[in-house]
Amino acid sequence: MSEQVLPWRPEGLRCEFRTDPLGIGTRRPFLQWRLPPAAGDARQAAFQLRAAASVGELGSAEGAWQSEWVESAALNARWPGRAPSSRERTFWSVRARTPAGEASEWSGPAFWEMGLLERSDWSASWVRRPDAAQRSPDRAPYALRRCFHLEAVPGMARLYASALGVYELYLNGERVSDALLRPGWTDYRRRVQYEALDVGSHLRLGENVLLALVAPGWYSGRIATRAEPGSSQPVRTPELLVQLELTAGDGSRSVVPTDERWEWAPSAIESSDLYDGEVWDLRRTFPFGQTASLRWSAVDVGTGTAGELVAHRAGPLRAVGTAKAKVTAQADGTVLVDSGANDTGYLRLKVREDAGRQVDVVYGEILEPTGRLYRGNLRGARCADSFTCAGGGVETLVPAFSYRGYRYAEVHGLSSPERLVGAEAVTISSEMERTGHFSSSERLLEQLHELMVCSLRANYVDVPTDCPQRDERMGWMADALLFAPVAAYTYDISAFMSKWFDDILDARTPAGGFPDVAPRPSSMWPGPSFLAGAPAWADAGVLIPWLMFERYGNSEPLERMYPAMVEWLRLVHDANPDGIWRNGRGNDYGDWVPAGPDTSHDLFSTCWLYRSSSVGAKVAHLLGDKEGESWLRERSEAVRAAFVGQYVDPRTGRVADERKASSSIAASHFAPIVGEETQTGYVLPLVFEMLDDATTAKAGQRLADLVTSAGKRLETGFSGSAFLLSALDKAGHPGLAYDLLLRTEPPSLGFMVKMGATSVWERWDGLDKDGWPACPTMNSFNHYAMSSMLLWLVEGVCGLRPAPDVPGLTKAAFRPAISRQVADVHFAFEAPAGHLEVGWAWDGEHAVVGRLSVPPGMECAVAGAVPVDDVVGAAVASAGDGTPLGEQVVGAGDHEVVWRIP
Ligand code: BGC
Repeated sequence: MSEQVLPWRPEGLRCEFRTDPLGIGTRRPFLQWRLPPAAGDARQAAFQLRAAASVGELGSAEGAWQSEWVESAALNARWPGRAPSSRERTFWSVRARTPAGEASEWSGPAFWEMGLLERSDWSASWVRRPDAAQRSPDRAPYALRRCFHLEAVPGMARLYASALGVYELYLNGERVSDALLRPGWTDYRRRVQYEALDVGSHLRLGENVLLALVAPGWYSGRIATRAEPGSSQPVRTPELLVQLELTAGDGSRSVVPTDERWEWAPSAIESSDLYDGEVWDLRRTFPFGQTASLRWSAVDVGTGTAGELVAHRAGPLRAVGTAKAKVTAQADGTVLVDSGANDTGYLRLKVREDAGRQVDVVYGEILEPTGRLYRGNLRGARCADSFTCAGGGVETLVPAFSYRGYRYAEVHGLSSPERLVGAEAVTISSEMERTGHFSSSERLLEQLHELMVCSLRANYVDVPTDCPQRDERMGWMADALLFAPVAAYTYDISAFMSKWFDDILDARTPAGGFPDVAPRPSSMWPGPSFLAGAPAWADAGVLIPWLMFERYGNSEPLERMYPAMVEWLRLVHDANPDGIWRNGRGNDYGDWVPAGPDTSHDLFSTCWLYRSSSVGAKVAHLLGDKEGESWLRERSEAVRAAFVGQYVDPRTGRVADERKASSSIAASHFAPIVGEETQTGYVLPLVFEMLDDATTAKAGQRLADLVTSAGKRLETGFSGSAFLLSALDKAGHPGLAYDLLLRTEPPSLGFMVKMGATSVWERWDGLDKDGWPACPTMNSFNHYAMSSMLLWLVEGVCGLRPAPDVPGLTKAAFRPAISRQVADVHFAFEAPAGHLEVGWAWDGEHAVVGRLSVPPGMECAVAGAVPVDDVVGAAVASAGDGTPLGEQVVGAGDHEVVWRIP
């Protein structure tokens, strides 16, 4: 083999989805890289890794460990070397070899540092305010501090921190990180995350003060127990765990751990809750650098948690944007603040008020047609902050440990509207890299995409939540499952989901079933069978890990989740030996909040059982579990056969439950009629490929007829809507899919835009045509589920169609569905392999120019013929002289194709 003949090197090195991360918790981290644009259409046939304890050693052949060449086109690997120990830092680099045997140069260095892997690495104890000082149920955050002396500034300083509750940390008066609501949301009884931070720059010679504020958050706020507002249920006191490790130049280490030497004091926050907001007495704030004047008391050593202490897997919540808000004085003396968009976060207000005056900031998502703030849909969430002013100048009113979904707020209690001197909206979200951007001269399509992006950001709040405003904000699994495919075209959600998979494992039922929500709140949800996950909800435990494998190429989550997948599938199959999923459906939501008749729950559930069983078989195959694979293949085939036998008439393609399903929670609340033939009843078997070719064609036509006879109107709920456009496209009716996508009459996403929405509604009928909200008990205006259908915007309209079952999106087809209703579209995407672009534009009446840009390491099959509205294969790729080209497979580079309509 020749050595280093290629003048390029891999780039974009990441470990566990982050650049040079600290605090890694797995001994076989997932490593990724890219081939640079300079690699052109070179492909990687093999790679080699190098590692060392320092950058210097990494560069020398003697000092570094080197792997064998690994034959693989994948631009990623699980760390194959020696298992690293706690705190160990590994510098690494990678080089690639092409099929011709030429090697690239070595990449530049990257590193990762391990966290604390063993419980014995922790000398810190959990500490907390003594119980006697508790003012339950006020949920009052409090301060903790430790003063310590430094004779010399250490060479390296690491702060490992966690809490039962949420915290902010300060060293010598400065925040050590801008992360919010750390350590994030887990089921604290089973698992608590810690973070690792480099705090060297905050230390100084002599006296140092390490201070923490702790608050109930997801640990003992109302969200944890689902306690009623004002309930006298005891509130657990938040606890803190901190270990500051200072390493001197000679390698000796000293530690400042939480222990009985810490002290506590009340904070200026009298009460803090995620649902209810905060109550502050600003007269009691103190500069965190000068804490001497406070009355500090001894702490108790806490009880900690029986759960595991684990390293963070995902990026933290952060403030991701600020915008100036519009302020209007109202006739009743209050001030209306409009942040401009229905998003998640809080307002940062500046007031000049008298000492002792109480100012309340009362939030809501929409205004009624009368202009009044609407708060009916917040249910039991107070969603307001109160501040007693200190007076004497401009004061900032901002909550510390609470967020909410809102666009508007009313400010009450000001002595006059002019006292409000500044208003800014702060948007928060989980830290993720934006990867997908859509544009088009058809403004409505851009607006639909913007709506989706807003609801994604607003609801990816440490876990994928259903909504950010009412007393719910839970990690509902079906919502997450249906939306994840489009989310993964918008942000890099790999680390975010990887963390949530642990929450799913922790939320399983004692029998091994997947749940409806993860993390599971510690109280029982109202309802008889919350313990078992419902069809489409529980399925997320199988299907999202598989999606992550397809999109990012990482099989680790599949390994982690596989035993649970099998356990859950066994429960369902054992309860339903004939293949129809009738038993063990938990809360059995069906096709939630449909815009038409409800679909038979037996039929609906059986489709999901087929989907999870067949994907489960693929996972078993990948992981080499032969027995599991053959069982799952046999079961999925049995389910498919039972489904066809029970619901499908192969002669006509009719798919229906002739017996009509029993009513369900969804049916009793929203859609009392259970239809025999419904849109969703066709959509699911079509997209899950449960029918043979001949029946597929007939069923596809029936679906199109059903949509047309409904007035080109969707009648689907969460699940059916997510796949309806793809199903119509598959059935040869992309034109009809465009009609639904571009529709602005209800029910449609376009109607939401027309009504001024900036985020996606939970219900198709969220507002009526006059702007009056539907029933207050379940009507969120920031719920991403219904925008799951925008998957088809990327895959159908823009035509980026990944090859199924291929890890890491390295193979795709470029096959857009063209419409005369749209002039052009463009989608730019950071794929794992690199920057990808697809798009097309009409060139006169008879030609469409398609453009794509493929990164090195990826290949794309450009369609020889594409549909134009409902005419399948109407436009044909042709060379300059008009000769038809057929399908062409292209590699890295910029490509153009002209499809002509003969
Ligand atoms: C949530 C949904 C969720 C559903 C269960 C609702 O309250 O907001 O999005 O999936 O309950 O059906």
